[in-house]
Amino acid sequence: MLRSAILAAARNPRIESLVTHAPVSRSVVHRFVGGPDTAAAVAAARALVADGLTVTLDHLGEDTTDRTQADAVAAAYLDLLAALEAAGLTERLGLLTARVEVSLKLSAIGQALPGDGEKIALEHARTVCAEARRVGATVTLDMEDHTTTDSTLEILRQLRVDYPETAAVLQAYLHRTESDCRDLAYAGSRVRLCKGAYREPASVAYQRRAEVDRSYVRCLNVLLQGDGYPMFATHDPTLIAIAEDRARFHGKTAVEFQMLYGIRPDEQRRLARAGHTVRVYVPYGAQWYGYLMRRLAERPANVTFFARALITKG
Ligand code: FDA
Repeated sequence: MLRSAILAAARNPRIESLVTHAPVSRSVVHRFVGGPDTAAAVAAARALVADGLTVTLDHLGEDTTDRTQADAVAAAYLDLLAALEAAGLTERLGLLTARVEVSLKLSAIGQALPGDGEKIALEHARTVCAEARRVGATVTLDMEDHTTTDSTLEILRQLRVDYPETAAVLQAYLHRTESDCRDLAYAGSRVRLCKGAYREPASVAYQRRAEVDRSYVRCLNVLLQGDGYPMFATHDPTLIAIAEDRARFHGKTAVEFQMLYGIRPDEQRRLARAGHTVRVYVPYGAQWYGYLMRRLAERPANVTFFARALITKG
C-alpha cells in the first residue's frame, strides 16, 4: 500500500513541486544524492575514494522525449568524465575495472525515441565509452524495464566489440535472467547482478520476495562458476553473506559488491575493510525527485526518516 502510494507520488507533478521546494529537502536529499551538479558529484566521489571505496556515477534524468534532451545527457556525461580526470580520480585498477566509473541509462540518451532511437542511443553510448576509455574510467549500462532488456543487451554486445570493459546489468526478478547470466559469464565480462527495481508483470518476473531471492542465489552461482567479473549489487545481508561464501568456495577473488549512496554506509566500509572491492552508486543532478521517491518506496524506515526531517526542520 505505502509502496504504491509513494510510487504514485513519484509521478505526481504537484507533489514533486511541493517536495523539491520544501526548505528541508536539501538535507534529506543529500543523504541519497551526490549533489545537483558535476562539481558536487566529483566532490562526493572524492570523499568515497578517500574512504577506500570505488564509485559509479549516474546523471539523473528520466524519460528522454526528444533528441535535444538525449544529446544534453550525453554531453553531461562527457563533462563529468573530464571533471573526474581533472580531479585526478580516474585510475584503472585493472584491465577491466576503474576506481571511478559511470552508469548510463540508455533511455536517457535516446533509446526510446521513435524511429532511430536505438541507433541514437548506441552512438551516444559509444561516445561516452570512448571518453571513459580515454580518461581511464569505464561504463556500466543500467538495466531498465523488461521491454528494453533485449535492446539493451544488443547495444551492449555492439559496444563490447570496441569497449569490452563495458558492464551489463541483469535483474534477478526476471525469469530469463539465469539464462542471460550463463550467456554473459565469459572471460572479461563485467556483470552487475541486482534484484530489479521496476514493477513487472507475473508473465516475465517473479513476484514474491523469496522467489526473487532464490533466483538471485541461482544467478550468483552461475556468475561465480563462469569466467567473468561478477558485481553483486544488493543491500540484503543474507545475499551478501551467501555471495561472500560462494565466492570463497569458487576461489574467486575478483568480485565486487555494489550499494547505493547513503544506504548501509557502515556495511560498505566493513566490506571494504574485509578486502572486497566495494562500489558506491552515486546519482547526481537536478532531477533527483523520481530517484529519491523510489528509494523511499523500497523501505518504510526511510519514509519515517524523511517525515521526521520535515517535522523537525520544516
Ligand atoms: P531489498 O530491497 O530486498 O532489501 C534487503 C535489505 O537491504 C533490507 O531489508 C534492508 O536491510 C536493506 N535495504 C534495502 N534498501 C534499503 C534502503 N533504501 N534503505 C535502507 N536499507 C535498505 N535496479 C534495476 O532495475 N536496474 C539497475 O540498473 C539497477 N542498478 C543498481 C545498482 C546498484 C549499485 C544497486 C545497489 C542497485 C541497483 N538497482 C538496479 C536496484 C535494485 O534492483 C534494487 O531495487 C535495490 O537495490 C533494492 O534491492 P536490495 O537487493 O537491496 O534488496
